[in-house]
Amino acid sequence: MPLTQTLPDFIRGLPKAELHLHIEGSLEPELMFALARRNGVALPYASVDAVRAAYDFSDLQSFLDLYYAGAAVLRTEQDFYDLTAAYVARAVADNVLHAEIFFDPQTHTVRGVPMATVFAGIAGALRDAQVAHGFSSRLILCFLRHLSEEDALATFAEALPLREAYADLWIGVGLDSGEVGNPPEKFGRVFAQARALGFRVVAHAGEEGPPAYIWGALDALGAERIDHGVRAEEDAALMTRLAQDQVPLTVCPLSNLKLRVVQDLRDHNLARLLKAGLCVTVNSDDPAYFGGYMNANFLATAEALGLDRNDLVQLARNAFVAAFASDTEKQGWLDALERYQRG
Ligand code: HPA
Ligand code: ZN
Repeated sequence: MPLTQTLPDFIRGLPKAELHLHIEGSLEPELMFALARRNGVALPYASVDAVRAAYDFSDLQSFLDLYYAGAAVLRTEQDFYDLTAAYVARAVADNVLHAEIFFDPQTHTVRGVPMATVFAGIAGALRDAQVAHGFSSRLILCFLRHLSEEDALATFAEALPLREAYADLWIGVGLDSGEVGNPPEKFGRVFAQARALGFRVVAHAGEEGPPAYIWGALDALGAERIDHGVRAEEDAALMTRLAQDQVPLTVCPLSNLKLRVVQDLRDHNLARLLKAGLCVTVNSDDPAYFGGYMNANFLATAEALGLDRNDLVQLARNAFVAAFASDTEKQGWLDALERYQRG
């Protein structure tokens, strides 16, 4: 790697995978307004600037309230296509080669949007992105943990008939929304069903919730990766488990800052987690709400924590290793990363 290359340039060119991205969280205010107009949906904001000004969060719930309200503009297959195509354009610009994308069908089916519409719009854009840009992706259906397990079971049953038609993309299930008070154990049955059917399993845990929720995600749900997981550091035995089993953590630094999981990015424990030997990755979570896509997360974190280029390569490598993709696909990405590092 040439020494004259600036850090932003190095990050721009770094081949990356994104493993923690909520497609509804990539809805930029401009598109929110355009879709509201197209669908005749009233928004509680006068302008795009007013939307951005409202993105001043105190915790996870204060964000979720606006995130679910914003998602109400998504009605048609074309809306989900446009949303996804806009994310792909940003990801491709950031040299993201592969993304594993969360979607929250319950947010839409409760408003009368058919499950098939959600799948068709998102998958249509992802398939076109594969053809147009060689952009690789998978889909992870997330259950909303503030709702009941019965609701999750019904949602899973509603989605299963679509599995074959979307077998190239829909490979996993996850768990998101308000964490505290909604422990992983609440969803033991639906995750057991998903595992038995061969789905990959992830869960948000240890963002606002305690280390016990990370243990629960691993042991009660069989989670193969932990989304966020930053509170693992409070439990030494858990740190040992995560390091020994190389359980990937999909960490989202700008999200943690905006939702006040950390008060200052310089206090973020990402570098310590990496030094402790954990399989840490960097991701954007809900980039339209948290002020940055992948490269912005890499750059802000590198600057705040003084990460060097080898650290950044390690973070990128971890994501390719942790991806739910074939060994052949992963080797191709890892080779590209190694070529990039050699310069
Ligand atoms: N945590 C929990 N639920 C979410 C998040 C998050 O970071 N983003 C979107 N839904
Ligand atoms: Zn998330």
